[in-house]
Amino acid sequence: MSIVFDEQSKLFYLHTPHTSYVFGLYQKFLLHGYWGPSLRELAPTPGLAYIAQMLGSSMGTSEPGSWLTRDCMRQEYPVYGTGDFREPAFHAEYEDGSRETELLYVGHTVTPGKPSLPGLPATFASEGEAETLTLELADPKTGLHVFLLYTAFSDVDAITRSVRVENRGGEVINIRRIMSASVDLPSLDFEAISLFGGWANERNLQRQPIGRGDITFDSKRGHSSAHQSPFLALVRPETTELSGEAYGMSFIYSGNFAAGVYGDITHTARMYMGLNSFDFNWRLEPGERFDAPEVAMVYSTEGLSGMSRNFHDLYRAHLVRGKYAHSPRPVLLNNWEATNFTFDEEKILSIAEGGRALGVDLMVLDDGWFGKRDDPKSSLGDWYVAKNKLPDGIDGLALKIEKMGMKFGLWFEPEMISPDSDLYRAHPDWCIHTPGRTRLESRWQLTLDLSRRDVCDYMLGLMYRVLDGAKISYIKWDMNRSICNIGSPALPRERQAEVPHRYMLGYYYMLEQLTSRYPDILFEGCASGGARFDAGQLYYTPQIWTSDDTDAVERLHIHYGTSLAFPPETQGSHVSACPNCVVHRNTPMKMRCDVAVIGQFGFELDLTRESEADLAVCRQAIEIYKDIRHTVHTGDIYRLASPFDGNFTAVQFVEKDGSRIVVAIYNVLATPNAPFTVIRLAGLDPDARYRDVVGNLYSGSYLMNVGLHECARNDFSSRIVTLDRV
Ligand code: GLA
Repeated sequence: MSIVFDEQSKLFYLHTPHTSYVFGLYQKFLLHGYWGPSLRELAPTPGLAYIAQMLGSSMGTSEPGSWLTRDCMRQEYPVYGTGDFREPAFHAEYEDGSRETELLYVGHTVTPGKPSLPGLPATFASEGEAETLTLELADPKTGLHVFLLYTAFSDVDAITRSVRVENRGGEVINIRRIMSASVDLPSLDFEAISLFGGWANERNLQRQPIGRGDITFDSKRGHSSAHQSPFLALVRPETTELSGEAYGMSFIYSGNFAAGVYGDITHTARMYMGLNSFDFNWRLEPGERFDAPEVAMVYSTEGLSGMSRNFHDLYRAHLVRGKYAHSPRPVLLNNWEATNFTFDEEKILSIAEGGRALGVDLMVLDDGWFGKRDDPKSSLGDWYVAKNKLPDGIDGLALKIEKMGMKFGLWFEPEMISPDSDLYRAHPDWCIHTPGRTRLESRWQLTLDLSRRDVCDYMLGLMYRVLDGAKISYIKWDMNRSICNIGSPALPRERQAEVPHRYMLGYYYMLEQLTSRYPDILFEGCASGGARFDAGQLYYTPQIWTSDDTDAVERLHIHYGTSLAFPPETQGSHVSACPNCVVHRNTPMKMRCDVAVIGQFGFELDLTRESEADLAVCRQAIEIYKDIRHTVHTGDIYRLASPFDGNFTAVQFVEKDGSRIVVAIYNVLATPNAPFTVIRLAGLDPDARYRDVVGNLYSGSYLMNVGLHECARNDFSSRIVTLDRV
């Protein structure tokens, strides 16, 4: 049983294979108890009362009704207004203007499996794979009912939390802040790890000590963003990639979020994650409900890599859906970096021919195929083929590509509208905007108002026309700006602060319609590269374009940071031409290929312009990729050397049954009198023996203790090592 309620101590135990999460009832309040390695029993009865007394007395009073006591107790779902002065998880305003909430226990149920969240992405589980605890709390004064949902998985070390609010009273409730998870950890001896970046520079690692006060990471951009990622880890100062405690939270949501940690005087670290409460208000009419998105929570004693393995296992088994969730995906060739907007059918066919000759499975036509789109300044919204470039239409081109023995894929940016478009001329009110204010363009485009169902349905209709009329096997869904001028004239004034979340609900509605109508199409998410790389997106698109920066050295960092929460097969990873179009760096084809093969592999260049020698390297890379992808895409990750720390990067993958090891090793710059860098492998059976491709035999203990010896003799050198257990 994953979830147990002990009647006597009033404690709830959530167990995963190696972890436990415990909280309980103290009188009618919920207090947090424990999150860490598996635990049978938290405390002698009376359970949390014992802890509450202990905490209360440390502050000079054990009087449970006293506000002072609450401020220093570990709360399970802290609310504003009743004596806890730290960051609350919940804050609402009631019709009489009051903002005080009291949440008291009403009851709970434990059910097998996991319910879905209406209109939202969420993890799923069959009845045998998880149990879900639903706790009902109510505010005695207002008719506010809050349901805390916890799922404990029996096959992966993860739990998820989400929150549902119901207004059962007769008056409006304005939800101002609603975190999906909040955990009071009994220590400040932590460092916070977050992922930050920008365009072409996504998901860099930031590690900082926490202290007293609040550290928040968030997005106010309308999408999860390249600037901060909806991910947060708390680790011990001594935690490394391979050992030590790591607590991780990842938000299954693609819009504005907040994640943070608040350290207080009692040495409690309150770790939280949820919808960004900045510029947020949700008006809940009597009888209405609101569902806050889900947070995935993992704990590991095996360092950052252990935390990542838990996230990867969870997302692989319980988040990514559809035909391509567990089957190998096509190796694709995309024309964007080769042509930008300047192409015609002949050019696309010649690029495709280069791919066919190499053994590529899928040709993707990127931006520029519709309207008058010869540059980024027009036509978004006019999803009609540009006959001057493609006289036989998308259907004609798709047919020709199919005849070459490849599949065909197409780019869309369905959330956007160019002011220079027929759509905008017909419907100037269809974009997100504030009447009377300048509509701020970014990349010459405005954002469609997806909070309006009629707009979503119209855009879907345009897409259906294209998709029903041609043989299309793949869609790249792009989104190339952050959203400002937040407002929707279609909503009343008191609902304007709902626009960012309503936009996300419209976005998810469109993705759900499309993915269920076209179950055989492979979808890839994209947002100016990797500006919407999050777990919410992965529920609809099993892969996401990781970055517009395809330079091999840059990608070492981007893949490393992204892998903290997301499995390698979710990371679109292409070999491109040199000098690189973003950083103008030249790297050997070998390194570009070796970097790309440990993601979701593809190409982004005109192969007909590459030398025979480089084409041979690419051909071999496809072979290597197909040989290692099962291990990389389903196995366990161990990050052995970080690109953020030095010249060497090394990442290891171990097949789940231990039969195979893949180690990818990269060196950026040569050093004079190059010393050896020792790469010690991890997670192997010390007594097993492993054979490399030339027949050398190594014991597991040799590989883990003596290790591989690397020497930085050349710039941009790399190798992919495979070892099979004998
Ligand atoms: C974004 C994407 C690119 C490409 C262009 C097309 O920048 O990240 O891959 O699709 O848009 O305009």
